[in-house]
Formats: sequence, C-alpha cells, structure tokens
Amino acid sequence: MHIDIITVVPELLESPLSHSIMKRAQDKNLLTVQTHNLREWALNKYGQVDDYQFGGGAGMVMMCEPLANAIEHLQKKKTYDEIIYMSPDGERFNQRVANSLSLKDNLLIICGHYKGIDERIRQHFVTKEISIGDYVLSGGEIAASVVVDAIGRLLPGVLNDETSALTDSFQDNLLAPPVYTRPAEFRGWKVPEILLTGNPKLIEEWRFEQSLERTKARRPDLLEE
Ligand code: ADE
Repeated sequence: MHIDIITVVPELLESPLSHSIMKRAQDKNLLTVQTHNLREWALNKYGQVDDYQFGGGAGMVMMCEPLANAIEHLQKKKTYDEIIYMSPDGERFNQRVANSLSLKDNLLIICGHYKGIDERIRQHFVTKEISIGDYVLSGGEIAASVVVDAIGRLLPGVLNDETSALTDSFQDNLLAPPVYTRPAEFRGWKVPEILLTGNPKLIEEWRFEQSLERTKARRPDLLEE
C-alpha cells in the first residue's frame, strides 16, 4: 500500500511513522508513506497557503489553489482509491474503517490547519472525511498518523504472530481479554489458574468469556452494533 500525505508540517508525521511496527512495515516495503509539503505549491515567495475567510471571522482558511495543484500533481502519478480529509466533521474512525481502508492500494490524505480547508476542495476532490474523535486537534497530522498506524499494522506480513491483529480489541467488536506474563505470582497476586493448565480449548473459552464480560462492562455499545 502507498499513502501520500499533504501537510504544512511534515515534521509532525515523521516520528510516529518511523519507529516500531510502522518502521517495519516500511522496511519490508509493505507500506510506503510519503509526505508532501503544501508550501511547495504556495502562490508566493512567502509560502502562503492560507487566507482570511470570506464573510469575516477569526481564523485562516487553507486556499484552494495550492491544494488543488498539489492534489493534481500527485494524481498524475497515482490513481487514488480515496482522497481523505482529516476533519472533526468526518466519519468517526474505528476498527471497521481501518479494516476497510487496509484493503486499498493508494490513499491520499490531506491534513488541515487553522479553520480548515476551502469547502470547494472538499466538494470537488475529497472522497472521504475522517475524524478520530469528538475533539478538535490543532491540525490533521496527528489524526493522520493515527489512521496510518491503524491501517499499516493490518497489512498482511506487517505483524508477526506475537502481535497478531486477530486478537486485538475491536476485532469481532469485542475488547481484548486480560493478559499476563511471568512471574505466575507477584506480591501474592496470582495469574488465573486456567492460563497455567496448558489446555488450549479451556484457555480459549476463558479468554472469550473474559472478552465478553469486559465488553459488557465497559463498552456495551459494541455489542449492540
Ligand atoms: N483535525 C482536527 N481535529 C481532528 C479530529 N478530531 N479528527 C481528525 N482530524 C482532525
């Protein structure tokens, strides 16, 4: 999978995407992520990409022309399955959305800043808007890195058995069961006996029950879905 990201702060995306599992995904060439600094398409030598809003009001708006030029430049080289705008107005991001995006080949993500991007770019270029939650971030970059991480780890070959996505919370709309490691007793706190029995069938049943209990207690909304 390839992901292009248009941003005014590429530095914000560098660190989250260049360590741990995201690094492994890219080292193995299962995922390539390229950031593009919108200022390269700025209209003047000051690197201007935003302007005052029509109608007045506080906050700048990211202009049409640099964004349209950046998108069209990238579209000459790739056909995108989705052009995604990170925005608090978007569809709420969850595991289902991550699963479905992980099946795509090419994504373009646009990160907004200030008051956001000119509405005409949303109408004429953007095919999907994604929000990572009901709060406002100062820009789309951190949200984009959340989305890229959640998608990247689902690509076949990225995770090994130990970190397999199949047993994560939210796969099957259930939270993950509790996990334990050595020692079997710490300060008198014992690991549940069943995990020490070596009986895979019993352990699997126990884990399923624990997942169900935890989901009922903490996220009953997941069971209703
Ligand atoms: N940009 C600003 N806030 C955001 C959010 N909650 N989700 C996605 N992008 C955003």
